[in-house]
Parts: sequence; structure tokens; C-alpha cells
Amino acid sequence: MNIGTVNIEGRFVLAPMAAVNCTAFRILCKENKAGLIYTQMIDTDLLRNRSRKDIKEILNIQDVERPVSVQLIGNDETALTSSVKLVEEFADIVDLNVGCSEKEFLEKGYGAYLLSDPTRLERIVRRMVDATDKPVTVKMRIGVENQKIIGVKVAKSLEEAGIKALCVHGRTADQKLAGKVNWTIMKQIKEKLTIPVIANGDVKRHADGLSLLEKTGCDLVMVGRGARDRPWIFDPTKASMGNRGIKAQILRFIELYREYERRGSAQEVREHVFWMLKDFKTEQNTRKVQELRSIGAVEDFVRALE
Ligand SMILES: Cc1cc2nc3c(=O)[nH]c(=O)nc-3n(C[C@H](O)[C@H](O)[C@H](O)COP(=O)(O)O)c2cc1C
Repeated sequence: MNIGTVNIEGRFVLAPMAAVNCTAFRILCKENKAGLIYTQMIDTDLLRNRSRKDIKEILNIQDVERPVSVQLIGNDETALTSSVKLVEEFADIVDLNVGCSEKEFLEKGYGAYLLSDPTRLERIVRRMVDATDKPVTVKMRIGVENQKIIGVKVAKSLEEAGIKALCVHGRTADQKLAGKVNWTIMKQIKEKLTIPVIANGDVKRHADGLSLLEKTGCDLVMVGRGARDRPWIFDPTKASMGNRGIKAQILRFIELYREYERRGSAQEVREHVFWMLKDFKTEQNTRKVQELRSIGAVEDFVRALE
């Protein structure tokens, strides 16, 4: 499967997740066979007046994780176009966030807010496409309000604007992460478009991903929270992995974190470890990991788990 000129191996991709998709986590997902890696969303305000060196550091993309899609979030046409130019040399694909439904972003006119004016959205996307030779894609919801589903129409207009793939999170903005994902709209969008369509929403296990692909006919499936808790979700051979495998994955995460993240944040490591312990079967209280103050202590805690 290709997105523009970028070849994607397999059919599972890692979703953009703010405060989750650090480089170490992204590489772990890649090692587990994620076919495409998204960065977390990058606010155009964060990129303004930054040097090339700053941007390289902010993105911290390593060759081993490629292909990587850099996701931008913003509202202003000019700021988004300049941001495309700033990140394009580091990105294999540039994606626009048209799905974020958090209040502070909606208030700035970002994310899913862009769906409230599809004509303007199309114009913004056209300019982003014109600004770069890299494939531009969009990740969107199916509407702003549950009463007014506009996904199919918007999808068609974005394809006409020149995007090379579309990811659809099958919910409206007002649903946030609640309620059921709408497979029917994802299927209709896939049927109407010629570019690859990525289905997203509620894939918790590898088998859920295969079933979403089958139900919607989409080309690829994107996994968010399922990958946060089980970065091995991309690899079907690890579907029923037990404690030993989970422990090895966590220790690998800590190793990657030490190698690639200069922040050295024990809190960040604790959070990832806590998420990844979800399926670990033990009598011990895994919540205790949240109390540990150093990365070394977290590692010792994990090694001692049985
Ligand atoms: C912690 C968290 C952070 C997220 N950050 C982003 C983001 O930066 N950009 C984006 O487009 N979506 C973001 N999302 C939405 C996910 O990419 C995805 O669309 C959503 O979680 C539904 O997929 P899932 O059921 O596989 O988690 C985020 C979701 C979560 C849970």
C-alpha cells in the first residue's frame, strides 16, 4: 500500500497521541511492526520562529521509525503552510489534525472545529498540498455534531484538494471518545474515494483491527489507546503474549527511553509502564509504580514483578 510515494508495510498504523507518542514509544511500536508512525500533534504556534535545530529536536524523528507522518494542528492558513515548510524535510508525510475535540483547541478554531466550515478547510488543505512535494493527509472526525454527519461530503472535497490519504475517526466531535464508532460512514467514505482510507476507533486487540478493516473495506487501520496499552498490538504473533513478553516489552521501552529521550522524566516512564501493565497478571499492586521517583526505581520494580 502506498500513500503518495510512501510505501506502507502491513495494514496497521500508530495513531497520533499527544503526551504519549514520544520517540521511544514510537520506536517500540515500529519494532512491533506498525506500518506507519504518526507523531503527536504539533501546534503551529509551537513552531513559529523556531530554528531548524529546534524543530529537529522537537520532532526527534529517528530513521528506524520511518515512514513517519508529522501531524500539524492549527487554524491559520499561512501558519499551517509555513509549518508544512518547516517540518517537511523531517517528515515522510504531513498530516493535518481535523479531529481534536478538546475544548481548549476547539476554542482556538483548531482540530474538529475546521469541520464547521468545509469550504475554508478545503482551501487550507489545498494550500498545504501546494506548499510541499511530500504527501499531505488529513485525519478527521465525521462531523461536529452527532445530528449532522458530514463526513462523506468533506472527504470528497479533501480528496479533490489533493490529499494522498484520509484517516477517519468514526465519531463526531461532540461524541469525544464516547459512544460507538460509526462503521457505516467509514465504509461510505471508502467507497466514494480513490485515495487510501484509514479507519480509526476502538481497536483494542489485533483482531478488532482486522474486523474493522473487513467491516469498512478501508485500506489501513489506525490504533490509538490500544497501542498505548499494548504497543505489541500491531504484531499478530504477540496477540496472546503473557507476563514474560509484557515484561520484555516494558524493559525495552525503558531502554529506548534512556537512549532517545533527553528529558529523563520518571513521570513519563511511570505512565507508560502503568499503561503497559494492563494485562500483566500478578498479585502485586502494580499501581505502586506511580509512586516511584526515578527511572531506575521503575525499572527495578518491573524486573521484580512476578
Ligand atoms: C491520549 C490521547 C492523545 C491524543 N492525541 C491526538 C493527537 O495528537 N492528534 C490526533 O489527531 N488525535 C489524537 N488523539 C485521538 C486518537 O488519535 C484517536 O483518534 C482516538 O483515540 C480514537 O482511536 P482509538 O480508539 O484507537 O484510541 C488522542 C487520543 C488520546 C487517547
